[in-house]
Order: sequence, then C-alpha cells, then structure tokens
Amino acid sequence: MSDPRPADPPLPGTLRDYERAAMALLGDDVAGYLAGGAADEHSTRWNADRFAGIRLAPRVLTDVRDLDTSADLLGTRLEHPILLAPTGAHRLFHPGGEHATAAGAAGTVYVVSSYSTTAFADLAAQAAGPLWFQLNPVPDADFVRETVRGAVTAGARAIVVTLDTPVAGTRDRQSWNGLDLPGGMSYPMLGGYGGLRPDPAARSIYRPALDAGFTAHDLARIVAEAGAPVVAKGVLRADDAATLVDLGVAGIIVSNHGGRNLDTVPATIDALPGVVRAVGGRVPVLLDGGIRRGTDVLKAIALGARAVLVGRPALWGLTAGGADGVRHVIDVLRTELEMAMALCGVTSLGAAGSDILWEE
Ligand SMILES: Cc1cc2nc3c(=O)[nH]c(=O)nc-3n(C[C@H](O)[C@H](O)[C@H](O)COP(=O)(O)O)c2cc1C
Repeated sequence: MSDPRPADPPLPGTLRDYERAAMALLGDDVAGYLAGGAADEHSTRWNADRFAGIRLAPRVLTDVRDLDTSADLLGTRLEHPILLAPTGAHRLFHPGGEHATAAGAAGTVYVVSSYSTTAFADLAAQAAGPLWFQLNPVPDADFVRETVRGAVTAGARAIVVTLDTPVAGTRDRQSWNGLDLPGGMSYPMLGGYGGLRPDPAARSIYRPALDAGFTAHDLARIVAEAGAPVVAKGVLRADDAATLVDLGVAGIIVSNHGGRNLDTVPATIDALPGVVRAVGGRVPVLLDGGIRRGTDVLKAIALGARAVLVGRPALWGLTAGGADGVRHVIDVLRTELEMAMALCGVTSLGAAGSDILWEE
C-alpha cells in the first residue's frame, strides 16, 4: 500500500507551530474570527486543557509492529479517524479556499460548511475524498429542503445539522458582527441568508440567518427527506443524545462549537462519556474541540468516540500552506496518533479502551 504522506513535509513540527505561522500571516479581523471563542473563552481553553489532564496508562510487552488506525464511519472505511470539522469562509485564509482544503483532506472526510465561500457542487465535482455537508438551519423549510437535496445530489455522503446555534454567541474577540467578506467572495450555499450582521436598530439577539425556532419536529423532517444519513452536531447532554437517536440520526458529534457559542459549557472530552453511555452503541459518536495532539485523538477514542474532527488546526494548515498545509496538519496528528498507540500498546482503535487511561 502506498503511503500518501510526503517524504519531505513542507513545514516541520506540531500543530502549535502551524498556529503560530498562521496567526502571523492573518490580519486582526480574520485572526479573531479564527481563534475567538465566546465571551471570556473559558470553554475554548478548557477543550484543549482538559485533554492534558487525562493521563495515559501504557501497556508494555505488546507487539506493535502493525498498527491499524482505520475507522468505519457511516459505511465508509477511513484510513484514520481524523476528519475536518465544518468551518466558514476558507477563501479568507488562503486564495485556494475550500478547493485547497478539499485537496489537502483527500484521505479523509471534509465536512463542508454552509458558510463555505465555494459552492458545494463545485467542490464535489473535484474533491478526491468524501464530502459531508453541514447545514445551518434557517427559518425557511423549503430553502433547507432544497439546500439538502442539492448537496446530496451533488454527492454529499452525509448531512451534518448544527444544533447549537439558534442564536449567535457573544463573540467579543471575533468579528461575528462585522466580518465582511471582501468583494468577489460570497456564501453561495446560503442564498439570501448570507448576511450575519444583526439589524442594529432591532437590538435583538435573533438573526434572520439563524432558526431560533428549530425543534425536534424540524430535525425529524430533515431526517425523513434528506436521502442521506443525518449527523447531529453540537451535542453535550446525554438526554439530548438519546432523543436524537430516537429521531433517527445516524451519528452524533459531541461539540461545543469550539467554545464559540456559549461560554462555560464543559470541555467536549468531559461531555463525551455521558453521551456515549446514553447512545449505547446505536450510532457512532464523534467529538470535536481542542484536538491538538495525537494523544488527544487516542484519549477521545478510548472514551468512546469513533472519530474526531479538527476545526482551527485545519485552518492553520490552510493559512500557512494551502492544500499541503492541510494535508500536513492531518499527517502530523495521524503520526502522533500512531506513536501514542504504539507506546500505549494498542494496535487498533477498537483495542483502545478506557484501560489505557490512568485511574487514581
Ligand atoms: C473559524 C471557524 C468557523 C466555524 N464555522 C462553523 C460553521 O460554519 N458551522 C459549524 O457547525 N461549526 C463551525 N465551527 C465550529 C467547528 O465546526 C468545530 O466545532 C470547532 O472548530 C472544533 O474545535 P477546534 O477548533 O478546537 O478544533 C467553526 C469554527 C471555527 C474556528
């Protein structure tokens, strides 16, 4: 089997090196959009910090010459469990935009955001890897139906419905209120719902582009009509997870939106075990938020996640190195995951259970 990873990576180092390189290249507004969390950004920090608080319990005397990092997800066998989370406006980060991201993500699933600056169909026509489409519900059932139908017809293997944004969060550091796309860029998947600017006269937390009235009834309709598996994103509570499984979702993403919506919610790695218990193996559970090291991936798997997604790290790679940067960020994480597996004495993700986590 040929190894797609470059023998001579374009940039050395770790995801944090990519972060530094990317932040040095971006202007304040785009840097704030990328890095910012809600309010005082506790949850954004906790996402990453809580991984560091979980200790590993490596097993010795295991033959680790053959490692299997593959993961089965909605009928697709992936070589590794690291996916790209949906993030908006990639052309702000690199002229290649979402096309460059898709090229860099060729070996894994790229979840394309509703706030993509490239039409999903254009990406699907060229992408080498599987694409999922992330839907931000808007208060217009016909528009939602047509958007989902268009994405599935173009080749989306799954629809990810983001449930954690009925209103926008308090993003003090980022220009959620004011990040204007430069001329020539637009959000083609959002039709007339493209603008996120609130009406200053309205003095309201509600935005025309966000559906504050979205409930189980609406999600059930999307599940029934999508023609593709529907994955629920933005879940922290165990009781919500159980409800979602009953509604027929094909997967659940434990996520707090990278800490960008509601500050002081728990780190996702702390919410994961409760959701995994409530789901009881009926659908795969995925996690995003704060994944910065291969050990983070392994810990999430050990606590019951089938796979993980990265948001900011992929954008650091895109900014610093276009498609090569995205590819290398994923490769760094995958290589670190392999090292962590070998050093813990586990040879497959299925064998990575909670016994590799240190208990007091
Ligand atoms: C710049 C940026 C834009 C994002 N845009 C979206 C989006 O359009 N839809 C969505 O569901 N989540 C969005 N997210 C959240 C990510 O999908 C993901 O939940 C989060 O980034 C994971 O945390 P991490 O950045 O620590 O990996 C965005 C995150 C960032 C950083």
